[in-house]
Amino acid sequence: MQRHRLSLSCVCLKQYILTYGNRFYKDFDVEFTICSADEHSLTDAWKGGKLTQNQTDGCGTGMLQKMTHNEAGTEAFGSELAGKLQVPTVICMYGELGAGKTAFVRGLASGLGITAAVSSPTFTIVNEYPGKPELIHFDMYRLHGADELFDVGWEDYLQRNAVLVIEWSENVEEAFDGSEISVHIQKLSETDRLITVEGDALC
Ligand SMILES: Nc1ncnc2c1ncn2[C@@H]1O[C@H](COP(=O)(O)OP(=O)(O)OP(=O)(O)O)[C@@H](O)[C@H]1O
Ligand SMILES: [Mg+2]
Repeated sequence: MQRHRLSLSCVCLKQYILTYGNRFYKDFDVEFTICSADEHSLTDAWKGGKLTQNQTDGCGTGMLQKMTHNEAGTEAFGSELAGKLQVPTVICMYGELGAGKTAFVRGLASGLGITAAVSSPTFTIVNEYPGKPELIHFDMYRLHGADELFDVGWEDYLQRNAVLVIEWSENVEEAFDGSEISVHIQKLSETDRLITVEGDALC
């Protein structure tokens, strides 16, 4: 199947995609950024058939969304996110087993200039990767609540000038205050993933 790539910046398009979702994505590789651009003018542009290029204007509430078709694509999106972070930051990852969370973190590490091999800290709970900034990678799969996260020193990690990324964030949701960046990975098929990144701290 021939695929097409669009680069869009339009709040109304988010709604369109949420409505028509998978059907739309079957034919298009879609990449778009929503920032503080005037929503109404973008909506008009969408209605008028004019699709605008990304319009970013510094850090603020934002959303990035991408469809990937293989592991390398997910890694590349993770690497792209590295360039949109303010440090320190907390990135909460959501997605079922095998969704591609660790693949995304591998790309994130690479985008931060970290060359060490990244693997899932399912048994160790946390892996630390030195760098500028350092990357702290948590896997909460085996935890049953925020108390256990505090036991592994969560508050100390928050004081570090680091990028903290957490797989299975849903297991420790009470530890978060809403300032985090969220990354949702939806497994649409064996190889298709819809990845949505949202947060007030995106640049
Ligand atoms: N588009 C894709 N993006 C990422 N991984 C993909 C994609 N298509 C297929 N895969 C496969 O899905 C698996 C993703 O594994 P990964 O360890 O990253 O998932 P995970 O979400 O971290 O799982 P877990 O919850 O067990 O930690 C890999 O085997 C990878 O090859
Ligand atoms: Mg994993």
